[in-house]
Amino acid sequence: DDARIPVLAVDGPSSSGKGTVASAVAQHLGYHFLDSGAVYRATALAAMRAGLTPADEHAVAVVAATLDLAFEGKSIRLAGEEVAELLRDEAVGSLASKISALPSVRSALRELQLSFRRLPGLVADGRDMGTVIFPGADMKVFLTASAAKRAERRHKQLISKGISSNIDDLRADLEARDQRDQNRAVAPLKPAPDALPLDNSDLTIDESVNWVLNCWEQRRPFG
Ligand code: DC
Repeated sequence: DDARIPVLAVDGPSSSGKGTVASAVAQHLGYHFLDSGAVYRATALAAMRAGLTPADEHAVAVVAATLDLAFEGKSIRLAGEEVAELLRDEAVGSLASKISALPSVRSALRELQLSFRRLPGLVADGRDMGTVIFPGADMKVFLTASAAKRAERRHKQLISKGISSNIDDLRADLEARDQRDQNRAVAPLKPAPDALPLDNSDLTIDESVNWVLNCWEQRRPFG
């Protein structure tokens, strides 16, 4: 019975640090980790390679439903090919944001996401983990940071990879993606009514991780 497997949902906008925080929390708890953004990104990559655009909703949904995706540590394999790095590509992220607005694509990816709920527990990172995929999650966190802070973090991340970028352009891109993610008709990015809000603009990663772990501990959902 899946209802007895604990789930901690971490949702929030892009570059809010939720991926880093959620995966560290999963590691601390010894839980499985679902990077649902990577699921959408992998769908986008597979669709791109099949020459599809967001206008081909049905074909993209077929790609989603038949996605051959395997996660193992930091490795992500799409039909056997290592794609973890490729998925971080801006073009892939931008297409992921567009196809994630398609209802049939979202429903095609539902089962795959649910299948991550395995013992001893799951930390699920995304936009609609606490609202749509795991509405009964034992704890929900909605992680945000100011647009300025998120642009700054993204800028540093790119620099560390040797990629130059303009911080104002990054901020404009982030805000455009937020708008699209918040205003789409299906599963828009919004906190679940019972989500704990955490603005980590002025927190370190460790501080955010500890905050989430403390809340989880206090609730002791499973004894
Ligand atoms: O978190 P991310 O940047 O890797 O996500 C990529 C895109 O996928 C993002 O623009 C919105 C979409 N997404 C979604 O719609 N639902 C999720 N649960 C996760 C991501």
